Amino acid sequence: MSRIGLLTGGGDCPGLNPVIRAVVRKGINTYGHEIFGFRKGWKGVLENDAIELTLENTSGILHRGGTILGTSRTNVYKVDDGEAKVLSSLKERGIDVLIPIGGDDTLGVASKLSAAGFPAVGVPKTIDNDLNGTDFTFGFQTAVQIATEAIDRLHSTAASHDRVIVCEVMGRDAGWIACYSGIAGGADVILVPERPFDIEDVCRHITHRHETTGKTFSIVVVAEGATRGDGGAATAADTVDSFGHARLGGIAFELEKEIEKRTGFESRATVLGHIQRGGSPVAYDRVLGSRFGVAAIDAASAGTYGVMTALRGTKIELVALDEALSEPKLLDPELYATAEVFFG
Ligand code: F6P
Repeated sequence: MSRIGLLTGGGDCPGLNPVIRAVVRKGINTYGHEIFGFRKGWKGVLENDAIELTLENTSGILHRGGTILGTSRTNVYKVDDGEAKVLSSLKERGIDVLIPIGGDDTLGVASKLSAAGFPAVGVPKTIDNDLNGTDFTFGFQTAVQIATEAIDRLHSTAASHDRVIVCEVMGRDAGWIACYSGIAGGADVILVPERPFDIEDVCRHITHRHETTGKTFSIVVVAEGATRGDGGAATAADTVDSFGHARLGGIAFELEKEIEKRTGFESRATVLGHIQRGGSPVAYDRVLGSRFGVAAIDAASAGTYGVMTALRGTKIELVALDEALSEPKLLDPELYATAEVFFG
């Protein structure tokens, strides 16, 4: 029997609670561990703020969005003596192995702690699906479903008013949500961070569609992190978080104006924002979260540390944290080529 620490860090995403439930269920029933959940990500570890997780207090959370532990974007390495404080909290609480659930920032801290000798097993999460080493992260399919439903709704109002509607989705460095939801929702143009765009090309696609098909409306899906090829500022980024990431959002408004000015078609912008991160996880994310949770507690119990759970094909595997964090997983060019078939 060991004492396991758990935390959820970074932006929340649907599927975190299924991971927590799985770690606790198997950790207690199979291994007889004690499980402690730190509140608000790394902040809770720095402050040694945790609760014991039991079969009772983790029951009924499978379908719930968000995280029962709360989360924060706390960079341990930006805090004075941060690493020492974290190690001291973990020692004081008698934690043997830590299971941080998070994206590149949260797992980056885990990787450094692991290098410093503290046993850690990571679980990858992000709606952006941009973590290397795993085919999918949980939360992504839910975000895609939400964005697709929004695009479906935008279609009917765009058609009624003969408008171009620009729908902005999340995706800081990678256009996975934009590309999947754009294909699923039948977008006429999809703009992603991996492909700096030319506003003239965008307008050409729209005009071509209207001229050749007789359609009087179009849908453009844009990832918040998309940039213009001419280097023009593409999005509002006035503040940065403790990991140095700019707060994105708003590129759709710029596009709305440019498209209307250049094409003469009346245009509107819709920013989906955090709606994509809220609410109940779809079945796929509940299953993936549960599988990751089980694999993480198995690895922690077997003494396999410095790794992250990963989906490879249909199998759950373990990959080295360093490998997973070496670079972001960018959009597959073949997928984008498929999306382009339907442009304009
Ligand atoms: O990293 C996931 C993500 O949802 C990004 O797509 C987005 O840029 C960011 O989080 C938003 O973060 P916050 O919740 O801090 O506004």
